[in-house]
Amino acid sequence: MTSGSGTPDRALKVAVVGCGNISHRHAEGYANTGRTSLVGVADIVAAKAQALAAKYGSRPYGGVTELLAAEDPELVSVTTPPGSHAEIAIEVLGSGKSVLLEKPPVLSLAEMDAVAEAEQSSAGSVFVIFQHRHGSGAVRAADLLASGALGAPQVAVCETLWFRPRSYFAPDWRGTWVGEGGGPTLGHGIHQIDLLLHLLGPWRTINATAVRLDRPVEFEDVSMASVVFESGAVATVINSLLSPRELSRIRIDTTGGTLEVGHVYGYSDADWTFYPVPDASRASKLGLDPGVRRTDDSQLETDETDPWTASAGKDVPSNHDAQLNRLVDDLLSGRTHGTTLTSTRPTMEFVTALYASALTGDPVHRADLTPGHPFYRALHGDVPQSRISEAFKT
Ligand SMILES: NC(=O)c1ccc[n+]([C@@H]2O[C@H](COP(=O)([O-])OP(=O)(O)OC[C@H]3O[C@@H](n4cnc5c(N)ncnc54)[C@H](O)[C@@H]3O)[C@@H](O)[C@H]2O)c1
Repeated sequence: MTSGSGTPDRALKVAVVGCGNISHRHAEGYANTGRTSLVGVADIVAAKAQALAAKYGSRPYGGVTELLAAEDPELVSVTTPPGSHAEIAIEVLGSGKSVLLEKPPVLSLAEMDAVAEAEQSSAGSVFVIFQHRHGSGAVRAADLLASGALGAPQVAVCETLWFRPRSYFAPDWRGTWVGEGGGPTLGHGIHQIDLLLHLLGPWRTINATAVRLDRPVEFEDVSMASVVFESGAVATVINSLLSPRELSRIRIDTTGGTLEVGHVYGYSDADWTFYPVPDASRASKLGLDPGVRRTDDSQLETDETDPWTASAGKDVPSNHDAQLNRLVDDLLSGRTHGTTLTSTRPTMEFVTALYASALTGDPVHRADLTPGHPFYRALHGDVPQSRISEAFKT
């Protein structure tokens, strides 16, 4: 039996491990699909598991082991701090279940490969939350760029200009490699970096700088990278926690026009624009091509609609609901869900390369990031903290 949408009429059994802030987006997102049953939630702090279970009608457990012993979920959201993701994912995969990891999925390429190895010998699969791939704007942009309808990408800008005051770093675990795993490159900018790579395809080389200008952290509070893609396109990327008027922005100039999205923590269709490349007469009228003689204004009118405007459909904002709805739909109908551990590896490679380049002063090629690379096991590359502090000074 299937529902009107073609999805089988049954509920997907889901669970949540880690009952802090973001767990509510998962519990709520699953409930909003109307096609899941939240069979259990777990947290090492009993009161947190109890509170989430009470709010969303589930059963509380003291940890992932206890949860898996008592329940039979098909998909387990891992919403614990990033340092525990790999270990919990490997345990869930060991029981044959699928995992949905919050971003950042892991803290190193070594951890990513350990989870991938566990996935290979499991009946379960690994998916990753990168909700900004799943709003209707990004789905449309990815499709149109892949088909060539928007032209070939040439130049891009990717900005995560966010603000975290000094007080944000008051908890002991914040601001440390052990507690947070990295600075705004890993914890904040990773959302736009992932979307940029999702839209532009594989990157080839990164040259980066990271600095600690103000915040009490072991790592950077601002990082910058220049990137060359396999396609030949180039991009600049900046990640900041010092920017009071916050902005998340991706701009891609193609041979067909400029595609741009500007938002902070989530976009709607209205946050995207496409500016088609002007033809010679329009360019002349706009003053963009002084070499071409101006034409009669009446000839500039066109009733052609550009491919971006023509492809507009239902507005799906980029939030947890967007990805969870799609994931549940995909799993219930046996389709593959695109945001996998494998498809997010280039993003972790990018983050690794940014730190490696910033700390060594050398460019990093994606092909170099093999298990023998000095930054494969840790984003700080085991560089002594005194040298990191020196390298990140302006
Ligand atoms: N996608 C997004 O937009 C987004 C936004 C915020 C946070 N996040 C990510 O979500 C994750 C969690 O962040 P948060 O802000 O909810 O953190 P949080 O500190 O509020 O919650 C984490 C919870 O995990 C529990 N926990 C820790 N270790 C555990 C373990 N081994 N087993 C079970 N429970 C454990 C803690 O007790 C805590 O309740 C992080 O990876 C973070 O980067 C994603």
